[in-house]
Amino acid sequence: MRVLGLETSCDETGVAVFDTDRGLLSHRLYSQIAVHAEYGGVVPELASRDHVRKTLPLIKEALAEAELTVQDLDAVAYTSGPGLVGALLVGACAGRSLAWSLGIPAVGVHHMEGHLLAPMLEDNPPAFPFIALLVSGGHTQLVQVDGIGEYTLLGESLDDAAGEAFDKAAKMMGLPYPGGPALSALAATGDDQRFRFPRPMTDRPGLDFSFSGLKTFTRTTILQQAVDGVLADSDKADIAAGFEAAVVDTLTIKCKRALKQTGIQRLIIAGGVGANKRLRAQLKEAVESLGGEVCYPRLEFCTDNGAMIAFAGAQRLLAGESADLAVSVVPRWPMTELNAPGAG
Ligand code: KG4
Ligand code: ZN
Repeated sequence: MRVLGLETSCDETGVAVFDTDRGLLSHRLYSQIAVHAEYGGVVPELASRDHVRKTLPLIKEALAEAELTVQDLDAVAYTSGPGLVGALLVGACAGRSLAWSLGIPAVGVHHMEGHLLAPMLEDNPPAFPFIALLVSGGHTQLVQVDGIGEYTLLGESLDDAAGEAFDKAAKMMGLPYPGGPALSALAATGDDQRFRFPRPMTDRPGLDFSFSGLKTFTRTTILQQAVDGVLADSDKADIAAGFEAAVVDTLTIKCKRALKQTGIQRLIIAGGVGANKRLRAQLKEAVESLGGEVCYPRLEFCTDNGAMIAFAGAQRLLAGESADLAVSVVPRWPMTELNAPGAG
């Protein structure tokens, strides 16, 4: 089955063609960074309009790269939530109507299920069960995955998501949007011991997170170090390093705790913050020291992309799921509401 996957839930337009026999045939990504940079964050209406401009050209490019035409497609999968409603509607309208015009099925995909299954696009996909650390701009969750659609939420952030905390701290330091990668690059040049950020909620049992206190600590540290409102480059780098170390340590502590608590040996990391090099290295070391293994998607499939949507959609299409003709999207949609493919 050849599935076209469309991702338009936020600020990236992703398109891919996945073949259930041959694997990923092509993928194309367009990032809206330049559109939102001057505003310091995603402007929803501009995001929707840019998806309108880019979705069809990217579909043409992805098909050309796979040496296919639309007639060769067997189904279409599009992100139907969670995300920005206008942005989601662009991919859903394009995907649902393309499938209707071709007389093929379409399926709406949960964005976080896409992230969760992204490591399965790699050559040695992880076997079930595993623990997933989902860390994106909107979510920080630890999920026990017993199979596709069989998700048990073990813990989540009570306030800001890890990516959101990176973005907000970066903004306070005057770094360009998107803040996560910029803060991380700066952190690589700083001293992570100079400012001792807290490791929130690690001193009590449980698997929930809280990152909003790190934001306050960042603001206070900036105010203490700034001279006439200006922060020296070395101070900025040291604050970035201290902040990144705190987020990574906190995530690592909770992941180890989740593995111990469930007795599961395998951890997968998914979502945009999974692109963070320090997090990848530290989690690998920590989990291997427990005798477990860590699986990540390749860097380009950690952040939003069409390949993960085509793959997740294909699993549900193979089980006979398909969307009706109404174009519907779900801006807020807990992943635990999902069922195993075909179970309705
Ligand atoms: O999964 P994603 O592309 O979009 C959402 O579904 O939210 O994640 C985007 C988030 C942003 O908050 C971004 O700053 C963060 O992932 N991010 C990073 C890195 N790359 C992306 N955070 C820390 N270090 C990175 N290298
Ligand atoms: Zn995402």
